Amino acid sequence: MKKVRKAIIPAAGLGTRFLPATKAIAKEMLPIVDKPTIQFIVEEALAAGIEDILIVTGKGKRPIEDHFDSNFELEQNLSSKGKTELLNIVEETTGINLHFIRQKRPLGLGHAVLQAKAFVGDEPFVVMLGDDIMVDQTPLTKQLINCYDDTNAATLAVMQIPESETSKYGIIDPEAAVNDSLYSVRRFVEKPNSEEAPSNLAIIGRYLLTPEIFTILEGQKPGAGGEIQLTDAIDTLNQTQRVFAHTFQGTRYDVGDKLGMLEANIEYGLKHPDTKDSLKTYLKELLIKIN
Ligand code: UTP
Repeated sequence: MKKVRKAIIPAAGLGTRFLPATKAIAKEMLPIVDKPTIQFIVEEALAAGIEDILIVTGKGKRPIEDHFDSNFELEQNLSSKGKTELLNIVEETTGINLHFIRQKRPLGLGHAVLQAKAFVGDEPFVVMLGDDIMVDQTPLTKQLINCYDDTNAATLAVMQIPESETSKYGIIDPEAAVNDSLYSVRRFVEKPNSEEAPSNLAIIGRYLLTPEIFTILEGQKPGAGGEIQLTDAIDTLNQTQRVFAHTFQGTRYDVGDKLGMLEANIEYGLKHPDTKDSLKTYLKELLIKIN
């Protein structure tokens, strides 16, 4: 059985929900307190034992490449001023096995993943969306790798969502429970409305896929929203090989959404050593003021 060593992080979307901020800044570079969202994703990949990461970028995404490159001037400056702690923080993002490829036009998540065909080759791999920050004792990507080690099959992470929100997600039609947290799946449906949704189990931003997905993606027609949807290709894959769904029990921050971004900032700020005490005091005072 081949080991899961590679991750794809699609980051070529337009980020329209964050306009005007994303007119000139990649949404993946928007910070949670002091760290760009994409760095959380890269850290999760490394914590899961991933060895090689491909980031799919597009127009205006150059700062992502710069963020993970060394910055000689800045490093020299911090070093000469003895700012060792900051220097360590800056150097943390270099020396990772990162690769970049451009998606020429944002034709959809499926199309973004297809750009990674040559990078992936004939191996199982993970897709990690920068929109979702996942917190759990075992990184979610590692949980999916553990599932793969048991089943040797593609597995997607899913979570219960309110029924009114099914049209924002890919939704699974669960067939049977394999164990406490794993389902076999009858169908995968992209963005169904609540009347048509087969369940309230939504695909969240972590996928472990087998390389057969690429042949399907090459012939994939546009689906919901006129985009080439990864969910549609996964539904086809499930007809020839098993694709499982693993339920995530940890905390998910939907940082592709304004409210999710604010929640992530507040909760991370309440843990950050530089802000936790003063933020707690501020929030307590604010609560009194608004009540
Ligand atoms: P989203 O649809 O959430 O991202 O895609 P978006 O299009 O950037 O956001 P909004 O809705 O306009 O605000 C999920 C992920 O897939 C990537 C995005 O960068 C995001 O991480 N994506 C999407 C691509 O890489 N290419 C695409 O063509 C579409």
